[in-house]
Amino acid sequence: MNKITIMIDGCQVETLENTTILEAARKAGIKIPTLCYHPDQSIKANCRICVVEVEGMRLLQAACSTPVAEGMVIKTNTRLVREARRTILELILAHHPQDCLQCIRNQNCELQTLAQRYNIRDNHFENIVEKKPLDLTSPGVHRDPNKCIRCGRCIEVCDQVQTVSVYAKEKRGFEVGVSPVFGLGLGEVVCINCGQCILACPVGAIYENDQHNEVWEAINSDKHVVCQIAPAIRVSLAEEFGLESGELEMGKIVAALRQIGFDKVMHTNFTADLTIMEEGHELLDRIKNGGKLPLITSCSPGWIKFCEHFYPDFLENLSTCKSPQQMFGALAKTYYAEKAGIDPAKIYSVSFMPCTAKKYECERPEMKSSGYKDVDVVLTTRELARMITEAGIDILHIAPEKFDPPMGLYTGAAVIFGATGGVMEAALRTVYEVVTGETLKNIEFVGVRGMDGIKEATVDLAGTEVKVAVVHTTGNARKLLDAIRSGEKFYHFVEVMACPGGCIGGGGQPIGTTNARRAKRLKALYHEDQEMPLRKSHENPAIVQIYNEFLHQPLSHKAHELLHTHYIKRSIYPLEGEKHPI
Ligand code: SF4
Ligand code: SF4
Ligand code: SF4
Ligand code: FES
Repeated sequence: MNKITIMIDGCQVETLENTTILEAARKAGIKIPTLCYHPDQSIKANCRICVVEVEGMRLLQAACSTPVAEGMVIKTNTRLVREARRTILELILAHHPQDCLQCIRNQNCELQTLAQRYNIRDNHFENIVEKKPLDLTSPGVHRDPNKCIRCGRCIEVCDQVQTVSVYAKEKRGFEVGVSPVFGLGLGEVVCINCGQCILACPVGAIYENDQHNEVWEAINSDKHVVCQIAPAIRVSLAEEFGLESGELEMGKIVAALRQIGFDKVMHTNFTADLTIMEEGHELLDRIKNGGKLPLITSCSPGWIKFCEHFYPDFLENLSTCKSPQQMFGALAKTYYAEKAGIDPAKIYSVSFMPCTAKKYECERPEMKSSGYKDVDVVLTTRELARMITEAGIDILHIAPEKFDPPMGLYTGAAVIFGATGGVMEAALRTVYEVVTGETLKNIEFVGVRGMDGIKEATVDLAGTEVKVAVVHTTGNARKLLDAIRSGEKFYHFVEVMACPGGCIGGGGQPIGTTNARRAKRLKALYHEDQEMPLRKSHENPAIVQIYNEFLHQPLSHKAHELLHTHYIKRSIYPLEGEKHPI
């Protein structure tokens, strides 16, 4: 691409052809406000907040959609521009509830930030806010339609990235709004609870089902409250406290959880290692005994729901392994309860996840194999940050502490579960050594790493060529499954993660999660794996111990009872009297 020269606010700026005014200005350090623009999405140009003056053009131009041209003279800070932006903000705010103090996005809202930047202290327009009811129908994702500024970012991520297409524009003109199809609630449509629309939304119109107060209640009761924390949280929680991804030591998070009041702090990584033992043996069993192939991973509950709705012909391909979260829940109220001598009825099990779909998963009726609800409540990274802040804990300066046994030990293989390709790589590390009886010379399967949407590799397992594929986002899963279904592709083992980048990009992660941020988190996870003394799941001594003491062997009867599950065909539209509702 050729370089061209333009002038922005009197400064000469060198930029590339085919960039927009917004991109050129940002590179030059000039801040043009945006609302409908999102760095990972197509240009919508519907909010007009980014308008600028361009010499020779009669009307103000939207910087996000106007391409630069040689010699262009742009002014971003004239009286006309400032007044236009203020008018646009006042118009939006005239139809907005403005209850910032009670809003979940207070101090983390793109609209609020702009209102502050442009010193909006009064409004020339009358405040008319239609009071539509909140949508609380989904266990994972809630909506306040009154706060929607109609930017369209949720529509694009759900439609283009996830290909679930839950949202549609409703009505026209001033009445235009965005809602799930047919005006239904998110819990009444095919929403997979991935929460990607929460991350895309610039304001507080879509948010997680915030349950952190339920956990405070449990801590203040006579329950024995145990928690697990997922690997992707360590790298992202840092961002909630002003650090770079991965800069917060795990031990400090453990110490903070103890200060909050948890009786035991353990790690989902332990059951990630256990998943590898179970899933790895399931793969070997299917290859050896002619079982259904490809085996497809099952630890992402958004992906599972997507498969149940859109690809029920692949349900038999899914690994029967529960997700690590649910394995932990089942063991917390059996194995841990037995070892600690605690009545499982007294145990309250909390999990901290980067994921809103896990809130849905723990409510699935089959997730009660301990005889109780296996996981009582799931909180996201954002809710964990809220609890730490509310408790007044200075997490940056707290002394690090260790996880509690017996489910606190883990390997590097479990750490990378949070990344797209991580489950595949962890499984290959174990399966290779189990099959060949040899020690892997290079344990890093770099072919399945990175942010490419679909990755493929072939691995030689003692003379058998095993074909594997890794996808992230349900949009990419759709492409891969279509290719498998048509016979164009064949694999033995497929990893699917519903969210872009895997769990590090989950819908429960900090607001401001973009693809650039996801790439940083991936790097931090692989760095942590490299630092671990043990990097293969079968080498985890706590895993060896649980098989010796409790589960006996992978795929045993007891393992099946507690660690495996089944799936349900679901329809795309709610049907009256349907056995398995949405
Ligand atoms: S969405 Fe933003 S501007 Fe609206 S009430 Fe919430 S914090 Fe305030
Ligand atoms: S949670 Fe996911 S599937 Fe549901 S509406 Fe949002 S983006 Fe679509
Ligand atoms: S719900 Fe949020 S992302 Fe969707 S259109 Fe409204 S403001 Fe934009
Ligand atoms: S950010 Fe440019 S029109 Fe919305």
